[in-house]
Amino acid sequence: MNAHFPAGFRWGSATAAYQIEGAAAEDGRTPSIWDTFSRTPGKVRNGDTGDTATDHYHRSREDIALMRELGLTDYRFSLSWSRVLPGGRGPVSQKGLDFYRQLADELLDAGIRPVATLYHWDLPQELEDAGGWPERATAERFAEYAGRAAEALGDRVGTWTTLNEPWCAAFLGYGSGEHAPGRTDERAALRAAHHLNLAHGLGVRALRAALPASAEVSLTLNLHALRPHTDTPEDRDAVRRIDAVGNRIFLEPVFHGRLPEDLVADTAALTDWSFVHDGDLAAIAAPIDSLGVNYYSPAVVAAGSSAAPSPWPGAAGHVRFVPLPGPRTAMDWPVDADGLHELLVRLRDELPGVPLLVTENGAAYDDYADPEGAVHDPERVAYLAAHLAAARRALADGVDLRGYFVWSLLDNFEWAHGYGRRFGIVHVDFPTGRRTPKDSFRWYREVIARNGLPPR
Ligand code: BGC
Ligand code: BGC
Repeated sequence: MNAHFPAGFRWGSATAAYQIEGAAAEDGRTPSIWDTFSRTPGKVRNGDTGDTATDHYHRSREDIALMRELGLTDYRFSLSWSRVLPGGRGPVSQKGLDFYRQLADELLDAGIRPVATLYHWDLPQELEDAGGWPERATAERFAEYAGRAAEALGDRVGTWTTLNEPWCAAFLGYGSGEHAPGRTDERAALRAAHHLNLAHGLGVRALRAALPASAEVSLTLNLHALRPHTDTPEDRDAVRRIDAVGNRIFLEPVFHGRLPEDLVADTAALTDWSFVHDGDLAAIAAPIDSLGVNYYSPAVVAAGSSAAPSPWPGAAGHVRFVPLPGPRTAMDWPVDADGLHELLVRLRDELPGVPLLVTENGAAYDDYADPEGAVHDPERVAYLAAHLAAARRALADGVDLRGYFVWSLLDNFEWAHGYGRRFGIVHVDFPTGRRTPKDSFRWYREVIARNGLPPR
C-alpha cells in the first residue's frame, strides 16, 4: 500500500494547559479544579501538582523551536480558562491573553498553525464552587469565555475546539472521582455530560459570532472502540449500553440533535433527564466543521453478573470489561491499532461529510535519558507506526481524515498519575525542565518530512 498521506495532511502534536504550563499563580491566574484536586491528599500519585509542570509558560520559545525542528504543520494546545478569565467570569486578563497571543504569533512565525482547545478539564474553582458542570450556569459561563477568547485571539488562531473529551470531564470527574473535582455521583455525571454538550453548542454559537467565516470550529471526543467478548446477544447488548453512555451520549446530540433513546431507558432509575430543557438539543447540534478523535486503546465488553459494580452509569451489573491479551503500555492500556481503524470507518459511515482529525494518539513508556543523553523509546515508535498505518488504511478506505496529532509533545503532568507516566516524544527532566528529544521525535520528524511512513 502507498505509505504516503494526502497532500496538505496536517501533522501535529498536542498538549494541554494544566499538563504543561506551570506558573499556576502567575499573572493573575486563579485556581482551577485541578489545582484543588492535586492538593487533596491521595488524589494524585506522589502528591504531584501542576504548579511547575514542564514550565512551558516560561519556556514556550524553546518548545516552539522543538516544534519547528520537528516540522509540525499544526500544534494543538489548550487555553487555561482561569488565566484568560480569572475566577471564570468577568473581565479578561490582558496578561493571560498576552501569553496566548505571543504563543500564537511565534507559532505563525514558525509556520505552524495554532489549534486552540478551550476546555481541557481545568474548570475555574469558583465555577465548581457554584455547582460545576452538573449545573446549567457553567455552560453559560463557558459560552461567555469562548466568545471572549475568540475576540482576543481570532485574528491569529484559525482552528478552535470547544471541549476535549467531555466523557472524561463528566464521568471521571463526577462519576468515578478519579479526576477533578473528584465527585462520585452518577446522577451528577449525567447532568455534567448534558451541560458539557450544552457548553459545546453555546460555545460554537459564541465562536461563530466572534470569528471570521474562515475559522474552523471543532469538538474532540475520546470515542470508545468497543468489541463484544462473544457474539451472543447478551454481549452485544453490553456493547450497546457502553456505546450509548460512552459514545452516542455525545454523538447523537451534537450531530443529530437528539438524546439516544436507549440511554434514557438504561438510566431511568437514575434520572428522568428533566435537566434537558426545550431548545437545548437544537443548540447542541450547531453545525461544526470537523470532529477530533482521541484514540489510545479499544475495549472488549461482556454481559456482567448482576452484582458487579461499574463506573459507567446505567451499566452497573449489566456489563464487564474483559482484558485484551497482548502488549500493554505503561498505563496498562492494550496496544491495538486496529481499534483506530474500526473507529474511523464507523465515523465515515455514521457521519458522512464530517472531516475527521485524530487529535490525540500516543503511548506512555518508562523512558529515561541514558548517560550519553539519548532516550531510546522503540516501543513508542512501534506504537505510533502501527497507528499511523491504521490511519493510512482508513484513508484508503475512504475516511475523510485530515490530520494526526501525537500525544504528546512533552512528558507532562499525567493527571492522577502525576509525573509518573511519560507520553512525550520529548523527554522532560523534572524538575529542572531540561528537554531531550527521544528517538520517537526523530522518527516522527522523518514521517512529517516524507509525508508518510518510512520503510521498515
Ligand atoms: C474504564 C474506562 C475506559 C474504558 C474503555 C473501562 O474499563 O473504566 O475508563 O475508558 O474501559 O477503554
Ligand atoms: C487526555 C490527555 C491525557 C491522555 C493520556 C487523553 O485522555 O486528553 O490529557 O494526557 O489522554 O491519558
